[in-house]
Amino acid sequence: MTQQTYRGLRAVAIRRLPDHVDQEVLVQGWLHNKRSKGKLHFLQIRDGTGLVQAVVAKGKIDEAVFEAAGELTQESAVRVIGKCVADERAPSGVEIQPSFLECVSKSEEFPITKKEHGTAFLMEHRHLWLRSRKQAATMRIRNEAIHAIRDFFYQRDFYCMDSPMFTPNACEGTSTLFQVKYFEDQAFLTQSGQLYGEASAMALGKIYVFGPTFRAEKSKTRRHLTEFWMVEPECAYYDLDDVMALAEDFVANIVTRVLERCRPELDVLERDVSKLEPSTSTPYPRVSYAEAEKILEGDETFVSGDDFGAPHETKIGERFDRPVMIHRYPAAIKAFYMKHDPENSDLALCVDMIAPEGYGEMIGGSQREDDYETLIGRVREHELSEADFRWYLDLRRFGSVPHGGFGLGLERTVAWLTGAEHLRECIPFPRMLYKIYP
Ligand code: 4AD
Ligand code: MG
Repeated sequence: MTQQTYRGLRAVAIRRLPDHVDQEVLVQGWLHNKRSKGKLHFLQIRDGTGLVQAVVAKGKIDEAVFEAAGELTQESAVRVIGKCVADERAPSGVEIQPSFLECVSKSEEFPITKKEHGTAFLMEHRHLWLRSRKQAATMRIRNEAIHAIRDFFYQRDFYCMDSPMFTPNACEGTSTLFQVKYFEDQAFLTQSGQLYGEASAMALGKIYVFGPTFRAEKSKTRRHLTEFWMVEPECAYYDLDDVMALAEDFVANIVTRVLERCRPELDVLERDVSKLEPSTSTPYPRVSYAEAEKILEGDETFVSGDDFGAPHETKIGERFDRPVMIHRYPAAIKAFYMKHDPENSDLALCVDMIAPEGYGEMIGGSQREDDYETLIGRVREHELSEADFRWYLDLRRFGSVPHGGFGLGLERTVAWLTGAEHLRECIPFPRMLYKIYP
């Protein structure tokens, strides 16, 4: 057991309290809210795992402690020992009747109160905002998604292969690179671990890369961060169909897990779970770029042959009750490493998965070009440095095989799962254009 003890009792996480009904428990947390009525103080205590009410009753506790409880300020750190009793009316199902209460540290006036605060203010106080119920619920769902991701791959014999953050290679175009000084040289912060993922797949078969990725996104949108987490499976001997089958299985698995294990959090966020339920089953719809274009017929903001913008993705996504996979985009608007369709060389063997309800692109993936001569031609066409890509080109010289994979943006996925308006609430400390504090 890793829980610490205090006064001979082990601390119980608030979410575990229903397992301790009629027992003496120790809860350690912070005061979320307080209400007093006559001889009772109702303390809402949070510990990060949940919220519970402690009812401090005059006469049941030391008189001085009763008085002190009335003086507690929001976010004061408190320890409570008391009986855990079942209470059907309480959202947690239990309440605590304290026999002991200790103020570990009294909080100064907390800047975030029940009243409405503007986003700029909340973002300035992100380090404190994380304590609020909705933010904490979002973080717990993010945590569940991360575990679902790792378990999914573990159970399917994928190996986790971490890729470097410093790299000489532009994987996703040169316009969003963060340049850093690397001793006497310059390097970039990674935009994607894919290229290293490909090398790893040739070594271990089925792998995934999972870590932070960086893009100097110069536009301010709800869907872009400059630092975001991406999980990227890569598999030897996979073609585009295999990639799509893996992608839908993967996403369905994450949604299912979050629905199973995060109901209290989804309730706090008032997420309409009926909107998520269809996504627990596969197959997901597949449409080609050409078919998707037809959905946009008459939309004057869309130029044929271009990438879809956010409003276009929303319009396409709205046609379906679960994520839709759009495949075979024009190769001209896609990355250099994608294999072209042997049936129409103007098209790339790629797929984007668009989330429902306007949450936009969650996944980008493809089958990779596996022919050495073709790939070196692409590196040249895209004016990338051959020297920097020599190692990557080597993969096509030493036992090249068809292969493919995709990248799923963690924050985009969490935004969809939680119903968040903006990606900034889906990562503990968001990094955006001109935003690096706290
Ligand atoms: O479509 P993208 O650019 O694909 C790649 O990077 C491939 N190399 C992945 C691969 O095949 N291994 O990005 C993948 C996903 C997007 O679908 C989106 O979910 C997310 O990463 N993403 C962002 N999320 C937040 N902020 C940004 N600026 C993002 N850019 C991409
Ligand atoms: Mg993309």
